[in-house]
Formats: sequence, C-alpha cells, structure tokens
Amino acid sequence: FTPSPANREYAEKKLKKLDNIDENLKYFNYNNIDRYITYKEEHKDLSLEDIITQVNIGLDNDFYVNSTETTYLNKKYILVNKYNELSENYVPKNLVELDTNYARSNMYLVDYAKEAFEKMAADAKSQDLTIKAMSAYRDYTYQKNLYNKYVSSDGQEKADTYSARPGYSEHQTGLALDIYNGTDDYNQFATTKEYEWMQQNAHKYGFILRYPENKEYITGYTYESWHYRYVGTEIATYIYENNITFEEYYVQFIEN
Ligand code: DAL
Ligand code: ZN
Repeated sequence: FTPSPANREYAEKKLKKLDNIDENLKYFNYNNIDRYITYKEEHKDLSLEDIITQVNIGLDNDFYVNSTETTYLNKKYILVNKYNELSENYVPKNLVELDTNYARSNMYLVDYAKEAFEKMAADAKSQDLTIKAMSAYRDYTYQKNLYNKYVSSDGQEKADTYSARPGYSEHQTGLALDIYNGTDDYNQFATTKEYEWMQQNAHKYGFILRYPENKEYITGYTYESWHYRYVGTEIATYIYENNITFEEYYVQFIEN
C-alpha cells in the first residue's frame, strides 16, 4: 500500500509519530500504521522494530479474537497459533507412521519431518541418549477431546495456557511432536540430558523448541520443553542463533 498524493501529508504525519521509521523495513505494513502508533503509546520501552513485529504477529489483539485461516498449507513454514487456525477437515499430505524404535505406536508425521526426526533420534541413540515421540500428528477431533478434557479438569482459562483449542494446535499440521526420554515423565524433559542434547542439536535437523521460556506473551503458551516443531534446517538455525520465536521469524521473513 502506497499513500496517494492526496493523503501523503497525512501519512507523513503518522510516520513522524513513529519517529520516521524506515518504511523500507521489509515487514513494515502501511495498513497497520494506526495499530503501530497505538501499540507504541502502550509500550514505550519497545524498539520500533519490536513494535512492528509484535503488531504484525497480532499481539495488539487478544488471542482467539479475529483469528483467520492460516496460509501455506502443507508447507514446512506453516504457522498455526492463536491467531492462525486450521479448518476442521484439514489433514496434511503424506502422513507416515513413525518407527516404533523412536515412538509409541500409531504416531504419524509428514514424511520429511519423520525422516528428520528419526535421523535425530538415531544420532542421539549413538550417544546413548533416548529420544522418543509420545505424541505427534493429532487430528481436529482428537485435539477437541483433549482440550475439553483439560477444560473440565482445570477450567478454560488455565487450560488455554497449555492446550490448544481444536483447529489451533500445531499437532494438526503433522510437523510437531512431543518427546520424552523413554523413562521420565515428558513434563520433566527439561531436567534430562536428552534435553541438553536437543538444545545443542535440534536445529541441525530442522527442529525448534516451539514454546520457549519467557515467550509466553508471543506464543500464547507456557514453556514446553518437550514440544518441537519441524521447520527445516535453514529456518531452525536462524531461530536458534537469534533466540526468537517462530512467530517473529514468520512475520519478518515469510509473510508478504
Ligand atoms: N500443547 C500444545 C500447545 C497443543 O495443545 O497443541
Ligand atoms: Zn505438543
């Protein structure tokens, strides 16, 4: 969107409010300019780059309000979160069952994610570390039952901090999985040597820790040491090296 000469002056006034932000910043979106200004007033400590990134992610709106159908179905860089949902009948292409040496039975991932995961688990194994999938692809109905179960035990507000509503779970993409070390409970994964190894190596196989500590305000979920997402080695390495979330990567490099 480029302002017409008639409202050029008006737009320039607005840009001044953003300290004449460089419009050439790749992910600056003219359509969001009023939202940037409002967000800046409410978050005076943030850099303009952070303001633009966070507004583009949608953080100026509450989770689950104004969510839209996600784009890039069947792509390794698909984004599914509390702003970007999948339809009830979306089933990813090329789901294949995981090798039961590295997973409980009946676990499925998209073929290229399965290959990467099993190579990672085999390399870990060669160093006497056990990495096993305990949950991988989950269809809409499965997620719905899971979420409803958590809502009845913990209430909706609490459940929303750790469980996705149906249609909003990354597990429905066939690119995400929960792992454990074969003995300890999955929610103790952060205390294991397998976790340490994952921290050093997951990105080399194309996986990211999707819900890191202290990023709840962006991802919408509390820290999950066990949940990994396949995005490919290039994206995973960038995210790892820059210590950012997939949401931030997505608005800066994928969207537009
Ligand atoms: N626990 C993750 C957020 C999910 O339910 O997809
Ligand atoms: Zn998970």
